[in-house]
Amino acid sequence: MKLSLVLFSVLICTLFPLRDCDEQQQVREDQIVVVTVATKETDGFKRFMRSAKHFNYTVKVLGRGQKWKGGDYLSPGGGQKVRILKAALESMKDENKIIVFIDSYDVIFASGPKELLKKFVQAKHKVVFSSETLIWPDRHLEDKHPHVREGNRFLGSGGFIGYLPNIKEMVAEWAGDDGDSDQLFFTKIFINPEKRKSINITLDSKCRLFQNLHGALDEVVLKFEDRRVRARNLLYDTLPVIIHGNGPTKLQLNYLGNYIPNVWTFETGCTVCHDDLLPLRNLKENEYPLVVIGVFIQQPTPFVTVFFERLLKLQYPKNRLKLFIFNKEPHHEREVSAFVQDHGSLYLDVKFVGPEEEIEDTAARTMAFDMCRKQKDCDYFFNLDVDVALKNENTLKILIEQNLPIVAPLLTRTGRLWSNFWGALSADGYYARAEDYVDLVQGRRVGIWNVPYITSVYLMKASLLRSELSDDDLFHSNFMDPDMAFCQHVRNKGVFMYVTNMDTFGRILSTENYQTSHLHNDLWQIFENPEDWRERYIHENYTHIMKGKPVETPCPDVYWFPVFTDIACNHLVEEMEHFGKWSGGGNVDTRIQGGYENVPTIDIHMNQVNFDKEWHQFLLEYIAPITEQMYPGYHTQAHFDLAFVVRYKPDEQPFLRPHHDASTFTINIALNQRGPDYEGGGCRFLRYDCSVEAPRKGWALMHPGRLTHYHEGLPTTAGVRYIAVSFVDP
Ligand SMILES: *[C@@H]1O[C@H](CO)[C@@H](O)[C@H](O)[C@H]1NC(C)=O
Ligand SMILES: *[C@@H]1O[C@H](CO)[C@@H](O)[C@H](O)[C@H]1NC(C)=O
Ligand SMILES: *[C@@H]1O[C@H](CO)[C@@H](O)[C@H](O)[C@H]1NC(C)=O
Repeated sequence: MKLSLVLFSVLICTLFPLRDCDEQQQVREDQIVVVTVATKETDGFKRFMRSAKHFNYTVKVLGRGQKWKGGDYLSPGGGQKVRILKAALESMKDENKIIVFIDSYDVIFASGPKELLKKFVQAKHKVVFSSETLIWPDRHLEDKHPHVREGNRFLGSGGFIGYLPNIKEMVAEWAGDDGDSDQLFFTKIFINPEKRKSINITLDSKCRLFQNLHGALDEVVLKFEDRRVRARNLLYDTLPVIIHGNGPTKLQLNYLGNYIPNVWTFETGCTVCHDDLLPLRNLKENEYPLVVIGVFIQQPTPFVTVFFERLLKLQYPKNRLKLFIFNKEPHHEREVSAFVQDHGSLYLDVKFVGPEEEIEDTAARTMAFDMCRKQKDCDYFFNLDVDVALKNENTLKILIEQNLPIVAPLLTRTGRLWSNFWGALSADGYYARAEDYVDLVQGRRVGIWNVPYITSVYLMKASLLRSELSDDDLFHSNFMDPDMAFCQHVRNKGVFMYVTNMDTFGRILSTENYQTSHLHNDLWQIFENPEDWRERYIHENYTHIMKGKPVETPCPDVYWFPVFTDIACNHLVEEMEHFGKWSGGGNVDTRIQGGYENVPTIDIHMNQVNFDKEWHQFLLEYIAPITEQMYPGYHTQAHFDLAFVVRYKPDEQPFLRPHHDASTFTINIALNQRGPDYEGGGCRFLRYDCSVEAPRKGWALMHPGRLTHYHEGLPTTAGVRYIAVSFVDP
């Protein structure tokens, strides 16, 4: 039925070649030529070209390399565009061409030429202009606009489509200056009834072809269908082909551009994010791009040693890396100088600015940029704040391969929605929750995202520092934070910032509640940065027990398992020695053969160094689950009155005589190693005549307390032995 109708039309048109037939049946996609004026290849322009290429549009770019005179070069609006178009049309002779004249810095295609052509033909006019809800620039012309029954009444010059001869006729009368308004010029033609009729102009009032976002943000939503995404105009229920982020709607266009025209699956992300990658795998080490890494320590921060360990392990040829390290905190001088001394020579160059130089944060960041900007061989600047835990060793390579102007790896604070980017801005430039923010942070949508604000860690092309971002006060603002000022500057220059969640990269540390009064302050981070605490201090094989690996039972009902890393043991011992108030004052009330008596140990209690809350948390999180697994039916909140580090020394207190513990169960963790650290030692359970004689550093012994496991500490014959003892559920 349908087919025969088409055949019928074709037949009629062939027999009677009238113009109407020509238009409706014989226009072809290849008649469409997209024409745009772009004096500069901005990121917005590149995005426009990507979307045009995606849909196979033929694009003619005019004005390349010319100096833009028609106003702000980022929002081309002006007579220069019309002058350039007029000149270009003169040399175009094929009268069948259908010209689509649009802006390009703030425009994307949402569909292909076929749909555009169909909708143009359906508009039944020779020239179709995009429409606006708001009248601009001359409000007094409102009454002169023809009324529309439904839809927008005003003309938008940011996009129109029409036959070459009609458009030639329309621009023929242009005689204005480059700075004059093109919008006003076209509006005046449109509101003139004769001209409107002779050129045969109409407006795309219901946004079937063109969607101008200005004044229409609430009307436009993303519509997901199969693997495709379209923008839908809710007011007119249309699917516009060309989207224009005019006026103050550039950020919204950036948002839409994250989805359009990409092909989407939410499990694996955007499959056509962009195809302009820069693979490194075929490069020899000495051919790698040269990167200046700026490291910034601006506040007391936990796990700085771990930060530098990760920096060292970053997968990248070190002879292609230069470091700029800014440390404002005297507290961290030890860690920084240890790193510079031990590993600085591995890098091509290291510049170090310490607290004594009393340099402001913003000045330091400018110095770091300069280190890259002013050295011709610098290809990238990689910003790395010290509160970034970059777990992915390939991060730098992954970011470089993305070949984007500025790109950040998406990082979050463990278990929170806090991240290093904003998806949207409030009217005053602060954080606003983007519709898809949570999906991005939680990895339900995966891809490369154009966002208005990034911080803490990002890679930037050095060429930007020498062009758009060559100002030396990028971080300066009278009322904004330096990173907000920087991002605003970047946005104003039309440079795109991206964040990627195509890989997992790591997390951001919390620097809140970080105490600096101890020797090893990281030990106190079990609440604030629990994941970093676990990685640093919990034995790598601890999790095996929780996965059902059999636990060693050296004596009846005595369980033996790894719990602390070497570093945890060292830090605890060093912390206690640093505190130094060892006492033999008989703090330990224990039960000896029926009666209560003191079995004094040389010890320091956890509460003496204000570590009792943290220790309780450790017992609760890492010991209680094992207790409940080994002694089924027993539940514990891991309460304790007594938890302490004991020191055994031949000439001080070498051993502990037999005793019961005042506990339901006891945890005894060896904090150093027989052999290198001491001789002798161990623990003997008298009732079973069974000893654990070779305690392993970082391993815990867990045994019942007050009833069955009468025990003694065997003599330490040389060196110093340390154990951490907890009497749980007294
Ligand atoms: C563009 O053209 C190529 C090759 O001619 C084709 O494979 C592709 O499907 C076209 N793309 C679209 C969106 O039509
Ligand atoms: C515009 O052209 C179409 C044919 O393409 C015609 O039907 C219509 O009447 C014209 N409109 C005006 C206002 O001349
Ligand atoms: C963890 O277990 C593996 C396999 O049993 C062993 O090779 C490794 O040395 C253990 N790690 C530590 C730190 O003891």
